[in-house]
Amino acid sequence: MSVSVLVGVQWGDEGKGKIIDVLTKDAGMVVRFQGGNNAGHTVEINGQHFVLHLIPSGILRPGVPCVIANGVVVDPVELVKEMNMLKSRDIDVSGIQLSTRCHLIMPWHKLIDAFKEDSAKGDKKIGTTKRGIGPAYSSKADRTGIRGGEMRDLARFEKHFRDNAEAYNREYVPMGGAELDVEAAWKEVLAAREVLVPHLADTVVTINEANANGVHVLLEGAQGAFLDIDHGTYPYVTSSNTTSGGACTGTGLPPRAITEVWGVLKAYSTRVGEGPFPTELFDEQGEFLRSQGGEFGATTGRPRRCGWLDAVACRHSCMVNGVDFLAITKLDVLDKLKEIKICTAYKIGDKTVTTFPEDVCDLARVEPVYETMPGWETSTTGILDWNSLPVNAQKYLKRIAELTGSKIGIVSVGPDRNQTFRV
Ligand code: IMP
Repeated sequence: MSVSVLVGVQWGDEGKGKIIDVLTKDAGMVVRFQGGNNAGHTVEINGQHFVLHLIPSGILRPGVPCVIANGVVVDPVELVKEMNMLKSRDIDVSGIQLSTRCHLIMPWHKLIDAFKEDSAKGDKKIGTTKRGIGPAYSSKADRTGIRGGEMRDLARFEKHFRDNAEAYNREYVPMGGAELDVEAAWKEVLAAREVLVPHLADTVVTINEANANGVHVLLEGAQGAFLDIDHGTYPYVTSSNTTSGGACTGTGLPPRAITEVWGVLKAYSTRVGEGPFPTELFDEQGEFLRSQGGEFGATTGRPRRCGWLDAVACRHSCMVNGVDFLAITKLDVLDKLKEIKICTAYKIGDKTVTTFPEDVCDLARVEPVYETMPGWETSTTGILDWNSLPVNAQKYLKRIAELTGSKIGIVSVGPDRNQTFRV
């Protein structure tokens, strides 16, 4: 019995999709446990480019059952679109299981998300993906949400849908929210329901039984630690628990079932959306990382904010996640640099600290303290073992391990599935 959890230890976009795909080679089941189609997991296989938003990246390895568990918020229309995209590329999606307990993102959730973002002023903007994620989790928390399992009973589902849709129009339209065309929206959701009902399952049982039967289960996190609703840079966060603790509530697996935690860490930092980002670079160095790393959102296409690796933040998130092994991604993006900086402490006023401030206003005031390391100035993209890495690249990786207090388990030196090696 073994269960691995994989999470991002920064602000998302660490390259989790690719590492999940690599780890799926040894897995018997892959499970998404939180978030929704705000995520964008990119995987490259022999020049073919896949971007997945909801379906676990494990789907790209034939024969591995994929589960969308109870902690996920699911837009039924978008899920069907993603299934169709995969089918058109000859990927078998027939085995996908969708939790009866997951909450559905309904059309009004997307309108509320857009209304709130568009009408928010200044630092009240979060920079959400406008996929309805926050409003869907709000409905879950205020106990008015619609769960996947309700789709089985058409009459009950339709009544709940119409009641909530009409309540949205009554409440939001007078405030300036877009009016929802209830009939058109229902038609679209109804069509998606037809496709999804056969996939509904009590995934809590599926996952626990698989684990009890000795299947190696891989739990796929989305976003990253600093977007966690509790542990992130609140309020500039997403609305779910992106850290490893969320994997238990999001699947129904008990904490003791988890045997291993993988933290995915990009060799530098990026962030999309608003909120403090201590090591952000506003100069040509930041531009270099963005263009070299292709740092544009896989979901929204927004340019990502880029900066040096923040070891203070990563040490904190490795602690919260209980990371056993790090998977370091995009090392090759740094190949051409003469010098590389790592943030090892923060200055706040006349104090220097090595701990991560719990309040976002303090984080916004910190000045990063950098350590400078020599670059390796040679291509790493074809390297497939630790000993062949340039010595300066080895030193950089060892320093990351030391500063975060974690072991390195995987290094990735390019986008393809094969440009990865175990350490
Ligand atoms: P939401 O999840 O759409 O509500 O957006 C909340 C914040 O999380 C925004 O700053 C988004 O840019 C960020 N976010 C959500 N999903 C991702 C992701 O997959 N990668 C990076 N940032 C994300």
